[in-house]
Amino acid sequence: MAKQLQHSHSNGSGWASLHFHKRWLLPLLLMLSISTLIAFFIRSAFDSSCDRSHLSVLEKPGNVKSASPIGNTPSPLAFMKSKLVLLVSHELSLSGGPLLLMELAFLLRSVGTEVCWITIQKTSEADGVIYILEHKMLNRGVQVFSAKGQEAIDTALKADLVVLNTAVAGKWLDTILKENVPRVLPKVLWWIHEMRGHYFKLNYVKHLPLVAGAMIDSHVTAEYWKNRTQERLRIKMPETYVVHLGNSKELMEVAEDGVAKRVLREHVRESLGVRNEDLLFAIINSVSRGKGQDLFLRSFYESLQLIQEKKLQVPTMHAVIVGSDMTAQTKFESELRNFVVLKKIQDRVHFVNKTLTVAPYLAAIDVLVQNSQARGECFGRITIEAMAFQLPVLGTAAGGTTEIVVNGTTGLLHPIGKEGITPLAKNIVKLATHVERRLTMGKRGYKRVKEMFLEHHMAHRIAAVLKEVLHKSKTSSHS
Ligand SMILES: *[C@@H]1O[C@H](CO)[C@@H](O)[C@H](O)[C@H]1NC(C)=O
Ligand SMILES: *[C@@H]1O[C@H](CO)[C@@H](O)[C@H](O)[C@H]1NC(C)=O
Ligand SMILES: *[C@@H]1O[C@H](CO)[C@@H](O)[C@H](O)[C@H]1NC(C)=O
Repeated sequence: MAKQLQHSHSNGSGWASLHFHKRWLLPLLLMLSISTLIAFFIRSAFDSSCDRSHLSVLEKPGNVKSASPIGNTPSPLAFMKSKLVLLVSHELSLSGGPLLLMELAFLLRSVGTEVCWITIQKTSEADGVIYILEHKMLNRGVQVFSAKGQEAIDTALKADLVVLNTAVAGKWLDTILKENVPRVLPKVLWWIHEMRGHYFKLNYVKHLPLVAGAMIDSHVTAEYWKNRTQERLRIKMPETYVVHLGNSKELMEVAEDGVAKRVLREHVRESLGVRNEDLLFAIINSVSRGKGQDLFLRSFYESLQLIQEKKLQVPTMHAVIVGSDMTAQTKFESELRNFVVLKKIQDRVHFVNKTLTVAPYLAAIDVLVQNSQARGECFGRITIEAMAFQLPVLGTAAGGTTEIVVNGTTGLLHPIGKEGITPLAKNIVKLATHVERRLTMGKRGYKRVKEMFLEHHMAHRIAAVLKEVLHKSKTSSHS
């Protein structure tokens, strides 16, 4: 449901089958590959309760990642120590929403918070993924239990804080908590990542006005929710906090490791049949009309024509679409491939299956294209991930992208829709012909990430929100 948020899903990305000559790279690759998590996180039995006694068993040394603050600075979340937090996830999958909530779970665990997790909807096809993710959580001392049982209700009543993830998670309140809903609402923080019209349904969000707060990934999206809830549903948003996301430490480690980056770059390029000196433009997002791969291909074709017409001296240019899934968006995928055949650019356009491991591709490309249409991305995490790899971003002037990319400085923005095709084509040519400008934009993007979009920045922002919400819920329970 929160899928528009993120590049998504595992399965054969292609690069995993490459063989790596350097043995020391293996740990890095293992770290990057979600499918290998299973090897690390196998724990047979697990408790299904969130009591202190159970948690202390799980907190054996070595079992839980260091509870001490990172470096010498205390974690901004330190005040959450010993608090009980219930995280309510709409689903458990490798899409943006659930993974983000898991990151929050681990941040809280690292300061000694008692964290319980429930998943509302379990899809049977993703059994393997659910198993891996649940064990990853159990290994970090997160308690995982059923969304439907008495335990979920008891924990919700007992908790200091309940975090509902995504708008659709709102269904859980009435279905499970029933008459207890009013007691729980004052300590609910609702984390919203959606901005599609069909989420504005009363049966999802009717309790919004009475929760302690809403947390939204970008200012534009927050504004949109405010307008829509008011105009469409005639309800009022609660106190709303905008929390921009941050890059994980793991991603930053790869992004800042020159050797790893070079090796990943060589291997991905080799697998695509792209030479080191060629220019590579990529969209990394699940393939769908909303993400604008069709329009991007048209721009790319137009840029090739421009270069030919003006006889510009540029390296051979390639486009990569990372995020293909022939089984999901068959019609749209065929449309993309037909276009490529029709324009005879098969040797310049490459399709790569959906993958969770985006780092190798970010290491391999020269420019990220963020072409999300309509209201754009709610935030668009891939944008800050690309900037960490010192890549300039060509993005639509919509949604969260406008809060991340500084037009003319860390990238170039173009309009959404068909009007954006030619401006994007021109921007592609601009970055192809101005090497220095391209590299400078990449460096500035990296600097911006270091200043604003790291995990610790996100932790600080979330900490400020949790503090307020806790304070508010305490006050309301005493009144
Ligand atoms: C990509 O996915 C398709 C099915 O959607 C599959 O047939 C193909 O083998 C996959 N390619 C790779 C390289 O994994
Ligand atoms: C919200 O409504 C205000 C006033 O009607 C408008 O100026 C603003 O652009 C709207 N914002 C969004 C995101 O729709
Ligand atoms: C981005 O900047 C360019 C000039 O560098 C300008 O022509 C364009 O209109 C700007 N786009 C947006 C969306 O601000």
